[in-house]
Amino acid sequence: MPMTDASALSFLGICGSLRSGSLNARMLRAAAELLPEGVGLTVAPLHDIPLYDGDVEAQGVPAPVQALRDAIRAADALLIATPEYNHSIPGVLKNAIDWASRPPEQPFAGKPIAIMGASPGMFGTVRSQLHLRQVLVALDGRLLGKPEVMVGAAANKFDAAGRLTDETTRKHVAGLVEALKGWTLRLRA
Ligand SMILES: Cc1cc2nc3c(=O)[nH]c(=O)nc-3n(C[C@H](O)[C@H](O)[C@H](O)COP(=O)(O)O)c2cc1C
Repeated sequence: MPMTDASALSFLGICGSLRSGSLNARMLRAAAELLPEGVGLTVAPLHDIPLYDGDVEAQGVPAPVQALRDAIRAADALLIATPEYNHSIPGVLKNAIDWASRPPEQPFAGKPIAIMGASPGMFGTVRSQLHLRQVLVALDGRLLGKPEVMVGAAANKFDAAGRLTDETTRKHVAGLVEALKGWTLRLRA
């Protein structure tokens, strides 16, 4: 039966940065504070995902990769926060997507997905997000089109404890998670 009640939606957050002070991890923490009613958010750890290697895969999918695949499959929607590295997707994130995308039943197919990103520079991860969008469309993900959340000069938008304090950005993040909720329910209807 299609789910039209939002009482139990779970979003999986994926961060394209591993560092503890990551602006993008902070963006996910802000999203968790700003979720609409009836939505939960957990963040998938990528620290233990090895580099993709077909020989390793042939021996069996590593446990952290299997855990990521299972978490993606179980989630109602994905919220990806990514930095931009050299005008594109950080290797950490692309590597995790590559692992998770392997058959059988790659878990991105049909999945509602929203992207956001933060950078200390002026372009706010726009190039990275465009590339990521292309990759996830190739995997048959259902990408949310708008709003776009591309946070430039992001270092100034968090306080010393890492909390997102910039009110405009908080509104944009709240708008994104609200739109992802609506998108998820629409795709299920
Ligand atoms: C290898 C590398 C390449 C980078 N390239 C870009 C870039 O193309 N555009 C940009 O805005 N920032 C770039 N940066 C700066 C990152 O935006 C900045 O380090 C950011 O804080 C990383 O995200 P995080 O805070 O979530 O770790 C680059 C950083 C690294 C380490």
